[in-house]
Amino acid sequence: MNGLNECFREKIKLEIEENRIEPACNLPLQFVYGNGPTDAKVVMIGEAPGKDEVCFGRPFVGKAGEILNEILLKTGIKREQLYITNVVKYRLVKEGSRQGSYRNRPVTKKEIEIMLPWLKQELDLIKPKLILTLGNVPLRALCFMQNCGILEIGACHGDVFCVNDNMFHIPLYHPASQIYNRSLKEVFDEDFKKVRIFLESQEG
Ligand code: URA
Repeated sequence: MNGLNECFREKIKLEIEENRIEPACNLPLQFVYGNGPTDAKVVMIGEAPGKDEVCFGRPFVGKAGEILNEILLKTGIKREQLYITNVVKYRLVKEGSRQGSYRNRPVTKKEIEIMLPWLKQELDLIKPKLILTLGNVPLRALCFMQNCGILEIGACHGDVFCVNDNMFHIPLYHPASQIYNRSLKEVFDEDFKKVRIFLESQEG
């Protein structure tokens, strides 16, 4: 995976510059790559790394990662067996109100499009049995990849979609969403039970 990441990193830097997408804000792109076994049966896809992820160089190690660890523990899914990545592999930042400070910002449609080939290559290499998307951004990315209509997480979370003969996809809410909406915790827990059941059905 190292060669792939290094190759895409340079390509992406150029494309982001050419398309004049904000980060510019004088901060170089801060990359965080996917992490986990490259023969993983399950690939989990988030939106983009945040400040903590940049600091530790791994996806989902901040607050959202804590919530994720908790649910993985509860459902008996081992994090070290998952390959965890993001659609956007650099931190999405804009300048904050104080000089020299930075805040997270939403991803643009153009950025999702630019990042798709990288994600696609990861999936082609790993060939997981199951893809878990966390939130609307990776869900949208998968819809673009499959050339299908755009789905919204509120309408399809916990459903099982067939990607091809050997690959399935279950959209889940982003773990951070329950920080802002407590009622989503229960939904998230229920959806993870469905993931567990799906994985057990594949074991037999
Ligand atoms: N949120 C994401 O979508 N990805 C991370 O890696 C961390 C938080």
